Order: sequence, then C-alpha cells, then structure tokens
Amino acid sequence: MNILVTAGPTREPLDPVRFLSNRSSGKMGYALARVAAARGHKVTLVSGPVCLAAPENVDTVNILTAEEMLAAVRERIEWCGALVMAAAVCDWRPAVVSPQKIKKNGASGNLQLEPTPDILETVSPGKGSRVFVGFAAETGDPLPEASRKLARKRLDLIVANDVSRADSGFETDTNQVSLLDSTGGVRHLPLMSKDEVAAEILRWIERKAALVS
Ligand code: CTP
Repeated sequence: MNILVTAGPTREPLDPVRFLSNRSSGKMGYALARVAAARGHKVTLVSGPVCLAAPENVDTVNILTAEEMLAAVRERIEWCGALVMAAAVCDWRPAVVSPQKIKKNGASGNLQLEPTPDILETVSPGKGSRVFVGFAAETGDPLPEASRKLARKRLDLIVANDVSRADSGFETDTNQVSLLDSTGGVRHLPLMSKDEVAAEILRWIERKAALVS
C-alpha cells in the first residue's frame, strides 16, 4: 500500500526566536513509518521538528507549522491508500507573527491566538475508500474522548492513549493504547514497545484495506 504517516509536533512561530509547540517526540509516528516500510509498503512521512534520524526507505518531508503539514498531506492524499495522523498538531497559533524579536519592554503580556486548520477534518471529503487512522492523546481515561473524535473526524480507527502515564505517550519508547474502530470494536493492548504498537496498527490497516478493495 501507499501509506502517508504524520509525526511529531508542529511549531507555531511567535517571532524569529520563539514558538508554541508541544511535547511530542515523534517516536510513535517514526515507528509507524519504519515498520510500514519493513512490511513492504511505500511510505511517506510528513514530520514536524524532532530529534530522530529519518527512517530508511521512507520518503521524509520536513515541515514546521500546522499549515505546512496540511499542505503536505493535501498534496499526497490522492496518492495514499492509508493516512495515519500520529502528529500532535498544534490547535492554536499566534495571531500575529512578529518579523523582529519581541523585546521585553515592547510586549503587552497578552498573546492573541487563532485556531490552526484541523487537518483530518479538512482532507476528510477526499477520503473515499482510503483508510484513515487518528490518535487521541488524553490526560486521564482517553476512551470517551477518543470515541467522540473517531466519529467527528470520520476515522476508521483511533488509537487512544493516556499521556499522563510515565510509561506511555510522549517521549517514551513504550505505549499502552486502545484501538477503537468505526464499527464499535475496542481492543485494549498491553504495554508494549512503540514498534510493536505500530505493527498492531499496520496489521489492522492491512486487514481493513483488504476488506474494502
Ligand atoms: N489533528 C489534526 N489537525 C489538527 C489537530 C489534530 O488532524 N489541527 C489530528 C491529530 O493528528 C490526531 C487527531 O486529530 O490524529 C486527534 O488530535 P487531538 O489533538 O487529540 O484532537 P483535537 O481535535 O485537536 O481536540 P483536542 O485538542 O481538543 O483534544
């Protein structure tokens, strides 16, 4: 299959030296890209700024902002048979980006924000028979919110994880996730490496694609 994976955070500039972002390390998305390539898929990885080496046999496209990630995904949506949105896209960006470094004395102390585009919701009209997978990173029980996002973003599968656990979510090499699918199926996976989680997700995508093709 042609598989499009997004990974890492986005970075929303405030001025040439400052930005808004989040704690995503990109490890889960990079594991997905690496494992998908190892399983023989053609993979494009759209990556926010992370400290990870580009995976072998993967076409990696580096972006910074949510707007740039949206443009990169849009360009490749027709090409892909599956889109896996593992990126932690910033929901807000500074409404005004200063071309010069904002000086201590020139700042008001208030930061005006505007929403970034929702990538999954924007590309959803072009979904067709493509398999769409999203992630729900929540603090506390992720299942209720994950199931709402599964419906709202018209996904086939959502990967729910509790990012407040020390062994799961941001920056860790392990993850404990639940897979919720659009037919109501729920699978709670044990704590495993992100490569093993990636393999579970890819096996699910491969089975789903075989059913719809
Ligand atoms: N996502 C997206 N575009 C955005 C924000 C998120 O496509 N602007 C994707 C993420 O990559 C993820 C899924 O939507 O696969 C859920 O992201 P999440 O941040 O958990 O949900 P939000 O819709 O941003 O809602 P909230 O932040 O309020 O939980």
